[in-house]
Amino acid sequence: MTTQFSVAGIELELARYPKDQESNLQAWDAADEHLIKHLIETEQAPVVTAIINDNFGALTACLRSIAPTWPLMVETDAKTSLLGNLQNLATNSLSSEGIEWLNSREALPGQIELVLMKLPKNLTYFAHQLNRLSQALPKGTQVLISAKAKSINKSVLELIGKNLGPASASLTWKKTRVITCISDGKSRALPKEVQWSVPQLNLEIRNLSNVFAANKLDIGAEIMLENMPKGDFKSIIDLGCGNGILGLHAKQLFPQAYIHFVDDSEMAIESAKQNWALNKLDTQGLVGEQATFGWDDCLTHMSEGVRPDLVLCNPPFHQGEAITDHIAWQMFLQSWRALKNGGILHVVGNRHLAYHIKLQRIFKNCTTVASNGKFVILQAQKISKKAEPFEASSTEAEAKVEVTESEPHPQSSLYGTKK
Ligand SMILES: C[S@@+](CC[C@H](N)C(=O)[O-])C[C@H]1O[C@@H](n2cnc3c(N)ncnc32)[C@H](O)[C@@H]1O
Repeated sequence: MTTQFSVAGIELELARYPKDQESNLQAWDAADEHLIKHLIETEQAPVVTAIINDNFGALTACLRSIAPTWPLMVETDAKTSLLGNLQNLATNSLSSEGIEWLNSREALPGQIELVLMKLPKNLTYFAHQLNRLSQALPKGTQVLISAKAKSINKSVLELIGKNLGPASASLTWKKTRVITCISDGKSRALPKEVQWSVPQLNLEIRNLSNVFAANKLDIGAEIMLENMPKGDFKSIIDLGCGNGILGLHAKQLFPQAYIHFVDDSEMAIESAKQNWALNKLDTQGLVGEQATFGWDDCLTHMSEGVRPDLVLCNPPFHQGEAITDHIAWQMFLQSWRALKNGGILHVVGNRHLAYHIKLQRIFKNCTTVASNGKFVILQAQKISKKAEPFEASSTEAEAKVEVTESEPHPQSSLYGTKK
């Protein structure tokens, strides 16, 4: 996997976040290169620019390397993208000073003169982003949107026309195109939030536009909900919580438990928060906050004081357009680290993903709780000779030993072994 970015005379070292992940994925794609090439060829001046959906900061780093003080605001829903952006600026000794960082719900400032955007996979979320722009951009502002050519069709151009202003696509270069849209200055209302019921659990679910399972229960989550673990759980993490469905139901089953919702998507965290309030899940008589909501890359920044006895996890198997199992690896390993001794990781996954191999390597045990033709529910228990395996310096070493002992492969690392 290359980390050397080289386009139109700009040379950068770019990595995904986290840097030490078990994947061969590159931090940028040809659509990033096309956009930068276009800016250089058109001799774009460093005006106030909004960068939207910049996966790991390739666009931000390029602009800051062209002009170190290029005025920027950067919008992303993904914490890994925000952290990747900061990581890549630092690696290339570029300043992040003055950059305004926004999630996809915070109001955009009014003085934007140029927008650079990557087309997201989720077109409902894209429409939401265009509507936000329509509320902030003066008439005539140029919005450049880059994507794989195969993702750009008549309906995408019509969607842009309807939600922001007229648009046309460039010729194809390296199988990508750049769409130029000129904002028409008409402000649009944001789309209404979607709300749906899970009658069998007596839960109401609200989903913001970039949240997994947009308008119905995911079939993996459904089998997980039918096969929740039994026990007297007091501290539960819903890891990769999406709208929070697993953690919400856990609170119904274990009213004495504190629930920690974590997701890479800021909109997911906001949805889980709204759903917690909507379903009135606080238990009378419990002291302190009964739920926390963390916008994070897995458990990377989870307080060390949180020592769950149960982690619920329906892991993602893609990141953006890339199919990958590195996030599942990271989730399983970080769960092992965080769990109390005797604590349980309860996982649902597509049968073909073979998560049992990963769990067996990390936990040294794995039980199949339930399965159907497509999905399997797996459970692994943390059994450690040491009561507190997480004491600072021993932690990493211990986790490495746990993984590498069972798999003496040259490429073994913190996150397991490459396939
Ligand atoms: C398959 S969905 C499961 C959502 C929900 N738990 C359910 O069962 O319906 C996986 C979730 O993991 C989240 N995710 C992806 N990468 C992540 C990361 N690095 N850290 C935390 N969450 C992540 C996604 O945003 C998504 O909400």
